[in-house]
Amino acid sequence: VVITAGGTREPLDPVRFLGNKSSGKQGVALAEAALAAGAEVILIHAHMDVAPPSNAKLHSVDTALELRAATLSAAAGADVVIMAAAVADFRPSTVSTGKIKKRDDAADPVIKLVRNPDILVEVVAHRAAQNLSQLIVGFAAETGDDEHDARSYAEAKLARKGCDLLVVNEVGPGETGQEKVFGRDGNQVEILARDGAGPVQASGSKRQVADAVVRVVAERLGTT
Ligand code: C5P
Repeated sequence: VVITAGGTREPLDPVRFLGNKSSGKQGVALAEAALAAGAEVILIHAHMDVAPPSNAKLHSVDTALELRAATLSAAAGADVVIMAAAVADFRPSTVSTGKIKKRDDAADPVIKLVRNPDILVEVVAHRAAQNLSQLIVGFAAETGDDEHDARSYAEAKLARKGCDLLVVNEVGPGETGQEKVFGRDGNQVEILARDGAGPVQASGSKRQVADAVVRVVAERLGTT
């Protein structure tokens, strides 16, 4: 089982980067749950606030492009790929070799961004090209808006990405005004399936959510 976790960091110069709020907790919980279920786990992790499990095979990366190379190579031999990493959609188009200077005699810098590849879509394409029998699980942090709720955005994403399962959580401020998911210990998700089964609801600690995801995966592999 190949699992990606954590948040990528896209460098601007030798000391600065564009990052995100991912703590890596959900990805690490997934690795622990898969290990507890008897799987051999490769954890490809970008920046995390928590330690990875020592009994997984670990691969540490910084950027989306590094995560992509490591994931595509590991996915070639995987039965299951679970993409829990928060991958930057964009990276700075150029990386300054020296620290970007603050200068009174020059205009403030403008950062131009370019799109990163969608690794999940590439893993799905790789499976089709190689005719692999592989289960692919994506994650989606969604917010609803005036037009559509988080679920309908998630269903559209599942169709667009082409993965088998999409684990969806609603992010953003909860009723108390505090962030509901990022960096927190608990989670509440819906596991949507492309074949229309479910959806399965899971909530509790990130480990409990991970156990639920691993259970759905194991049922589909016929290994429960
Ligand atoms: O499109 P969005 O970022 O919401 O999709 C989330 C899912 O896609 C996650 O599983 C994430 O790991 C994956 N993803 C990716 N490559 C990107 C962006 C997201 O694999 N560039």
